[in-house]
Amino acid sequence: MTGKLTFARAALAAAVVALASTGAVGAAQAKPPAPPVTNIVGGSLASTAQAPWAIALNNSQSPSPSGQWCGATLVKANKIVTAAHCVTKARSTYTAIQGRDSLSSTTGRTSKIASIWKDPQYGRAPGHDVAVLTLATPFTGVPTLPLETSLAADAVGAQPTVYGWGNTEGTGPADRFQKVLVPVLGDAYCGQVYANYDYVANGEICAGYKEGGKDSCQGDSGGPLVLNGRLFGVVSWGIGCADAGNPGVYAEVATYAAALTAQINS
Ligand code: ARG
Repeated sequence: MTGKLTFARAALAAAVVALASTGAVGAAQAKPPAPPVTNIVGGSLASTAQAPWAIALNNSQSPSPSGQWCGATLVKANKIVTAAHCVTKARSTYTAIQGRDSLSSTTGRTSKIASIWKDPQYGRAPGHDVAVLTLATPFTGVPTLPLETSLAADAVGAQPTVYGWGNTEGTGPADRFQKVLVPVLGDAYCGQVYANYDYVANGEICAGYKEGGKDSCQGDSGGPLVLNGRLFGVVSWGIGCADAGNPGVYAEVATYAAALTAQINS
């Protein structure tokens, strides 16, 4: 638990419980006790009717009874974008779910995964936390999100919204689709606060609140950070969730847009 949280929630479940009780999160920083751990922290209920491109990427090996694992985004009828660190399990263990606000319900559509492409640089170089999964059963007719392709979109003060079914740290119901607006704080800020954690300006987006309170969290990984109707970022990592001075880090879609587009069109 000393590194950044680029791995999926399975690896975290036990540690998160332990850390919640000690208040010790991360390696270097002295911090106030962590709030009780429980999707999106400090957000509000969202609706997949209004965000039909938001996909829950469940896994049969998830520690969560609902199977909740990661988020993803529908970018073509048969293609979803998620985080590379979400695809550590066997292909057959994943299910993509569209149109399900509560993971305890059976509403919406599901698909198994036909194939997985993970950015080959992921784990070799900082950043690159992106993957493209091909659906076995396309979500035909569902609106998709286009990729952001402009690097200039990553500007301090931009106002994107992140969506997911992840941990709320007690700020909302579990396994329910949530959203929260997280302003872009800029590469300089994350470069400073995450100096020990390989934040990469060319490939990551720093977003959230310097004072904490609202953030994405474990289980939101892979999900969409949306700006101006485009997929701007992919939930990647942070130290703790919604803690002051430790904002969320998102894979910068524009940086990887050419590689992603090649996969989406393949
Ligand atoms: N790595 C996490 C996951 O696998 C996402 C962490 C996002 N953390 C944050 N503080 N914004 O679900």
